[in-house]
Order: sequence, then structure tokens, then C-alpha cells
Amino acid sequence: MALVIKLSGRIFDDEELVLRYASVINKLPGKIGVVAGGGELARRYIAVARRGGASNTFQDLLGIYASRLNALLLISLLRDAYPRVPATLEEFLAAWGGHKVVVAGGFQPGQSTATVAALVAEAVGSPVLLNAANIDAVYSDDPRRNPNARRIPEMRYDEFEKILHSSALPGGYELMDVWSLSILRRNCITTYVFDGRRPDHIEAIARGENPGSRITC
Ligand code: UTP
Ligand code: MG
Repeated sequence: MALVIKLSGRIFDDEELVLRYASVINKLPGKIGVVAGGGELARRYIAVARRGGASNTFQDLLGIYASRLNALLLISLLRDAYPRVPATLEEFLAAWGGHKVVVAGGFQPGQSTATVAALVAEAVGSPVLLNAANIDAVYSDDPRRNPNARRIPEMRYDEFEKILHSSALPGGYELMDVWSLSILRRNCITTYVFDGRRPDHIEAIARGENPGSRITC
């Protein structure tokens, strides 16, 4: 069975964590697609570009290249991973046939790596997407700003969409973008959101547990 894992870029800001993810992924059975976020590297480069008046296109491109560098770092630590970072979905699929693991970063401006992960999950027919996030679960509002935010362990995409709309912008609580949600929903892919600082949660989910939030259609 295929499995797709989205790694928040912040995971790559912690060297120990990157090594631990590599070791967990190396032990997983079956075929694995991984999508890496841009992390601090992306934010730093985007901030400089923005200060100098760079276009949104170039800011996004910097985020994409940062996520690809993170992806390449992970590739270097994996066994039987495709040795390049695919830049498009077609490249991803071409690599998928010949390797146990394929690791991507961003694809194109105007989206986040959440959309890349959803596109990849759809393309390889993965029934689940594991989102190793910057937060430990989905909340009714951003818990870093609203102390009354409620943790929601189980929800449908309809409910999740309302939460996304209420707190996604600007720049803070951006767990997934709206495009990724529509792709996941049209395939009824189950998304698990869990604390990205806990690579062991991947094994827990494989055992049937739900350490964070589970989103279904
Ligand atoms: P992400 O926003 O996905 O990485 O990509 P992140 O913020 O480090 O990881 P999360 O959100 O915590 O999981 C970094 C930036 O790269 C650009 C966007 O500007 C995005 O904010 N990007 C990424 C694209 O333009 N297109 C892509 O396909 C992916
Ligand atoms: Mg982001």
C-alpha cells in the first residue's frame, strides 16, 4: 500500500528530528511518498526578497527551492529513495515506479506543500495522508492566539473547511490551503494531522491510533 507523508518545514529546522524521521521512514513497509516544507530557510529568503520588493512569484520560488533543499537532505538519509527531487507531478510519478521512496518539495507558485502532498496522494492512490504538522492537532481556532480553542480529534472535510476559512489568513495558522483540501476531499483521502515533533506518531497511526486529528469525507 502507498503512503504519503507531509513534513512541516519546521521539522528541518531541528537536525535531530530530521535524522529521526529518516530512520522511521527507512523502517516503513511499502511505498512512501514524502513532501518536505520550506521551514526557516524559506521564511528567511522570502523575508529578504519581500523587503526588497520582489514579486510574489519570486517569493514563492524561494520557498519552493528551500523546500527542495530540505527534500534533498532527507533523500540523502534514506535507503532506496529516488536520488532527485521531482519538480512536477509527472516527474514524481515517473520516479515512483522505480523506487521505494520519492521525496518532493514545492511544485509551483501560488500554493503550499500541502497541495503538493494532496496531489501526490491522489496520483499514487494513497488512501491516507499523514500531515506531520507545526501543531499537534486541529483546533477550532488558532490555540496560539485563542486560549479557548477546542481540540478536535475527529472531523469531516466540511467542518475542517470552515475552520480553515476562519483562521487561515494572514500568514499564521496555515495548516493546509484550500486547494489541498478540495483534492483530498474529492478522493476521500483520510488526513491525519499530528505533532511534527513526534516521528513515532507515524508508527502509532500505522497501528490504528489517532494521536492528533483525523479528517474524513
Ligand atoms: P510551505 O509553506 O509548504 O512550507 O512552503 P513550511 O511553511 O515550511 O511548512 P509548513 O507550512 O509548516 O508545513 C514554503 C513556501 O514555499 C512556497 C510558498 O511560498 C510556501 O509558503 N511554495 C511551496 C510554493 O509556492 N509552491 C509550492 O508548491 C510549495
Ligand atoms: Mg507554510
